[in-house]
Amino acid sequence: MENNAIIIRARQFVQEQHQNDYSGHDWWHIMRVTDTAKIISVQEGGNDFVVELAALMHDLADEKISGSEKEGLKKVNKWLKENGVKEDEILEINEIITTMSFKGGNRKPMSTIEGKIVQDADRLDALGAIGIARTFAYSGAKGQPIYDPELPPRVGSMTYKDYRHGKSTAINHFYEKLLKLKDSMNTEYGKKLAEERHNYMMQFLEQFFLEWKESEK
Ligand code: ADP
Ligand code: NI
Repeated sequence: MENNAIIIRARQFVQEQHQNDYSGHDWWHIMRVTDTAKIISVQEGGNDFVVELAALMHDLADEKISGSEKEGLKKVNKWLKENGVKEDEILEINEIITTMSFKGGNRKPMSTIEGKIVQDADRLDALGAIGIARTFAYSGAKGQPIYDPELPPRVGSMTYKDYRHGKSTAINHFYEKLLKLKDSMNTEYGKKLAEERHNYMMQFLEQFFLEWKESEK
């Protein structure tokens, strides 16, 4: 099968997998990340086919979408094999999506340029106005409050279990993850946009706490 035909089929497959997600990992998140990754890839000279497939599949090996990382990876690999993706490309895509997620900061750095590109695209979608919207959507979907002044953000590195299942709030997530992202971007394009989106989130938080204080007067 030609690469273009594989991409068209991959889009259909991935869209089906994400159709019941209301935690900010919906199909539009995948589309935005894929489009951003393609833009960065032009500048960084990545392998477009690997970048696009890895971007499309990047959230499938995740318990949120597939029940468990293992189940998700199995599904991805079955699909890639059945659709004629080459063995070396399958290996690279695996390396990218298993290294991808933040998981409280416990993962190894990305080794390939394609991986760095997709990771930056995913991180950019966690920042700015869209990042804010996704954080509140995630919190609503998981039953977390918007904010609780009696629940301070967790500082320092966390185990994966604490990061994913410990008690938190939407506002705390900014301090536990989102505000750290700008310093871990891989590419020039990623760094520049991350900086702008970071500043926008800082303004949002300032206004949020201002309004919170005003209600206490
Ligand atoms: P990844 O998909 O890279 O593994 P996550 O699923 O942890 O990363 O985060 C994706 C997005 O989901 C975050 O950018 C954020 O908007 C939202 N999110 C994840 N965990 C939380 C949380 N504990 N509280 C609020 N939002 C969260
Ligand atoms: Ni993602």
